[in-house]
Amino acid sequence: MKKFSVIIFLFASVILMVYTSCHQKKKGLPDKIKFSENIAPIIYKNCMPCHRPNEPGPFPLITYDDVAKRAKMIAYVTGKKIMPPWPADPTYSHFAGERYLTDDEITMIKMWADSGAPMGDPKLLPAPPIFPSNSQFGKPDLVLKMPSAYHIKGDNKDHFIVFKIPYEMAKDTFIRFIEFVPDNRKYLHHMNAHLIQYKPGAKKDVFSDEEYVDQDAFDTRVIHEKLGLANDDGSYPLLTPSVANYLPGVTPALYPEGIGGYRMAKQGVIYINNMHYGPAPVNDSDRSYFNIFFYNKPPVRPVMEFQMGTLGISPVVPPLSVPPNTIKKFHTEARMPQDISILTVNPHMHLLGKSFLAYAIKPDGDTIHLVRINNWDFRWQYFYTFKTPVKIPKGTLIYAEGVYDNTTNNPNNPFTPPQTVAEREGSMRTTDEMFQLIVTYMPYKPGDENIRMDSTYIKN
Ligand code: HEC
Repeated sequence: MKKFSVIIFLFASVILMVYTSCHQKKKGLPDKIKFSENIAPIIYKNCMPCHRPNEPGPFPLITYDDVAKRAKMIAYVTGKKIMPPWPADPTYSHFAGERYLTDDEITMIKMWADSGAPMGDPKLLPAPPIFPSNSQFGKPDLVLKMPSAYHIKGDNKDHFIVFKIPYEMAKDTFIRFIEFVPDNRKYLHHMNAHLIQYKPGAKKDVFSDEEYVDQDAFDTRVIHEKLGLANDDGSYPLLTPSVANYLPGVTPALYPEGIGGYRMAKQGVIYINNMHYGPAPVNDSDRSYFNIFFYNKPPVRPVMEFQMGTLGISPVVPPLSVPPNTIKKFHTEARMPQDISILTVNPHMHLLGKSFLAYAIKPDGDTIHLVRINNWDFRWQYFYTFKTPVKIPKGTLIYAEGVYDNTTNNPNNPFTPPQTVAEREGSMRTTDEMFQLIVTYMPYKPGDENIRMDSTYIKN
């Protein structure tokens, strides 16, 4: 009896193997997978942007040797869809610049690794892409650098720092785009910057006061005082929120001509609230900068932003508090008061996040998919840019739900044993929780559905 089932098992395996190999052939995959012809293009496009010097990937994936000696590990992480990191589910919605491998590509990597990772004909190897080092977009009109290098303490702790980068120009101007260029890519975890602008005569000296303040040490009022952000008469200047964001591996969205852009007063400050440096075991430093690209005309269609959930236009239901040893779902919903075109969505949770889902229900009952993340990963929180703006008619309900895992099964749980983790006055500390959907949009105009949002290169 035992023998019989073994034979059946073997027989079934053979059928399965034959089936699998026919199946692969049917799909048009080559018999022999070679680095030069089949694997290099996949690596250059999907891995090398992060796996090269000064980028967050822990080792380079550029040459044949780089890749071949890790073939098995690469087959594993691509098969498990750990790499490239792209948490959004591509079977739910698509985005500009999305980075995930097709099933064929995953199969080819596995076949290549299993067959001993052959090079193939080196003459057929394409040249690796060239990545510009100081800008992804071209030659900037103005570069604003942190006035001095920031010293990252090697104390293995997270640091949340608020910086100001003051500037003065000859006259007011318009800007199309602000690009953040991280200097210390190893420890820089995220960055969010706003633009503060002073009216003529409102501020004598934008360069005085402190350059940065440790956010954990002071409350917001004190931080603003130390940085000297207010006008000379104590009132507050104009703030344009979220002009630049950074997360490892993310190419910022450069909107097509005519969309986005700001007015830039001749005197102002880039206000970084905040810069998050991850735990560093040894001292290091950072002197990141911003590339500013001017525009010769006023912005036609400014991009706006709202957020739902924590600190947003709609509350988290029920209030965000996750008891120990539970898996709990929360949601937030908001009805749109006007027709809008959504450009990007950014789901945000912290370490207990498990999954995230956002969609819209139109007044006629139709559902519009926004984003679904089946396996939340705190490290990869992208601003997902739609390939074309998504029209959301007036009266549409935007709905977002997040599931949190506060059990010991969650390897990222910051507490053992688990403790109650909750929202604390919008605290961004990693060990408190947040639940947000951040949406950038423009008021809708006919034809928005046809605008291509893939980032374009600014040619100078
Ligand atoms: C967005 C940036 C980014 C991209 C794109 C990317 N990686 Fe990574 N990769 C990382 C980082 C950062 C790590 C370090 C470990 C971590 O944080 O998960 C890593 C780790 C790895 C590891 C080690 C995993 C481990 O458990 O130690 C392998 C192997 C790997 N990547 C392969 C790839 C391959 C193959 C691709 C392309 C198919 C790719 N990566 C694309 C950023 C990236």
